[in-house]
Amino acid sequence: MSGATRKPLISGNWKMHHTHLDAINVVQKLSLILRDSDYQAVDVSVHPAFTALRSVQTLLDADQIPIALGAQDVYWEQKGAFTGEVSPLMLAKLNVDYVIVGHSERRQHFGETDETVARKLRAVLGAGMVPICCVGETLTEREADRARERVTAQVTAALQDLGDEAVSGMVIAYEPIWAIGTGHTATPGDAQEMCGAIRAVVGDLFGPPVAAAVRIQYGGSVKPDNIADLLAQPDIDGALVGGASLDPEQFGHIVSYGRKR
Ligand code: PGA
Repeated sequence: MSGATRKPLISGNWKMHHTHLDAINVVQKLSLILRDSDYQAVDVSVHPAFTALRSVQTLLDADQIPIALGAQDVYWEQKGAFTGEVSPLMLAKLNVDYVIVGHSERRQHFGETDETVARKLRAVLGAGMVPICCVGETLTEREADRARERVTAQVTAALQDLGDEAVSGMVIAYEPIWAIGTGHTATPGDAQEMCGAIRAVVGDLFGPPVAAAVRIQYGGSVKPDNIADLLAQPDIDGALVGGASLDPEQFGHIVSYGRKR
């Protein structure tokens, strides 16, 4: 499988934005913008807040909109006395397809570690959903020429001991922390270099067929005007989009420009 055969995945991470009413509105507008040709070329997912998942799921089902439903986080236990948490089972029952795991904001503000990320990843896979596992270096790490080392360590900690099939079907999002929400996108060359390095790590751990199958997204200030150059890179198979995914027109442009890979 090469870059030309892996179907790109463009995901909108809405973070703590959009009430369930706003979310319905945005998905309705997005569904009017996207065309069959977009869905044929690109998988599209939206990741609303937990409070909006049910409303968006109902809309996607009722109108048969081929946008996949995603969550932004999950806990690793199936059920129990874990006040405030949401289980993989609860998400799977809502037809959630993709779950973001280990986003840098969770690592930074909510104390997630490589270990908790690994547990969540396994829980998502165990519930039959696809994890989008986020990795990425800080600016300090990049400036100290330690980006590759950091990201390699994150990928290894998250994936080691998983089965070939699980890893082949999952998504890794390379999101340099200094590029998130800052307007400073990594250059397509830098993003490609790190996504290529991630694929090489997957190859070392699981062998070439798994490395060739896993999808690797880039995330960090993706916009309509930079998506095409990013997706033209051989190891970049889509994008995890924050700010620009909140607006259906902008996100629609990203999907449409992204499909001209
Ligand atoms: P951004 O966020 O597109 O607003 O930089 C990306 C992300 O955090 O996934």
